Amino acid sequence: MENLKTAEDDIHFKSMKLYFNPNRIYKQLENAGFTGSKLTVEQVSKFDNYHYYGTKAVDDCIEKLQINKTFQVLDFGSGIGGPARHLASKSRCRVKAVEIQEDLNKIAADLTNRCGLSDRIDHVRQDIYKLDTDSNYFDCAVSWLAVNHIEDKAGLFEKLFTMLKKGGKIYIEDFYQKGPVTENEREILFIDDLPTIEEYRKYLVDAGFINIEILNVTSSWIKFVTNRAEVFANERAQNCASFGEETVNSLQDFYDGMKSLYDTNTIGGVQIYAQSPNN
Ligand SMILES: C[S@@+](CC[C@H](N)C(=O)[O-])C[C@H]1O[C@@H](n2cnc3c(N)ncnc32)[C@H](O)[C@@H]1O
Repeated sequence: MENLKTAEDDIHFKSMKLYFNPNRIYKQLENAGFTGSKLTVEQVSKFDNYHYYGTKAVDDCIEKLQINKTFQVLDFGSGIGGPARHLASKSRCRVKAVEIQEDLNKIAADLTNRCGLSDRIDHVRQDIYKLDTDSNYFDCAVSWLAVNHIEDKAGLFEKLFTMLKKGGKIYIEDFYQKGPVTENEREILFIDDLPTIEEYRKYLVDAGFINIEILNVTSSWIKFVTNRAEVFANERAQNCASFGEETVNSLQDFYDGMKSLYDTNTIGGVQIYAQSPNN
């Protein structure tokens, strides 16, 4: 228990507007007519991904890493469990889904249970730094938009390297820094510093990874964030009726703020793949 972050840490995270009222997913499911105690992953996956391009992005990862039912996968910064459920349902792999925020982790476990996947996904409320697990355990470690929150990125990549089996792989999608970040922008993103692409490469090399591929996906992410902010603004009336004005204002601020970070060339997006040596 001593490894658990405290309630104050959760309040700290709640200053990021994306994480305001995560229970909104229950209203989204109700609005879509999915009210039964049993759900399918397809029903939930319209609403449960906090990264860009939802299940399509997870499919890219499954294909790149050739994930199958024999894999033990670590998904860190797992949010309300969208990527973990899609991974487990599509490839039948086992997933340890590690999420620091208690309320998000609780929603994740509930939805996973209702999708009948509790035997394949272990939801753990924990700081990934402090995850206590055997060395050489996971076949791969995956993550969507969580690395930007993590202060000691060099330490993170070293820990991932240790937790992976020999020949294990990582797949990460996250932001990189293109230009200087202002104090106001730091609040939107809830980050201290973002790595540049070259800094990501150095963290990976220093940790021992090989076969590193870092793909710049900024142009497709700009399309995503532009469309997300516009669609959400156009649906304001329905959204206010469903989630309340406070939640909608919070999310619209976040979506607009993220779009402006791309418009001002402050951040971009990367897809990172790397492997640990076979011996
Ligand atoms: C933008 S969300 C993405 C969630 C999920 N990966 C998805 O794509 O739906 C990033 C998540 O990382 C979690 N996170 C941040 N720092 C973490 C840490 N040190 N350990 C575990 N989770 C962390 C946050 O609480 C948040 O839920």
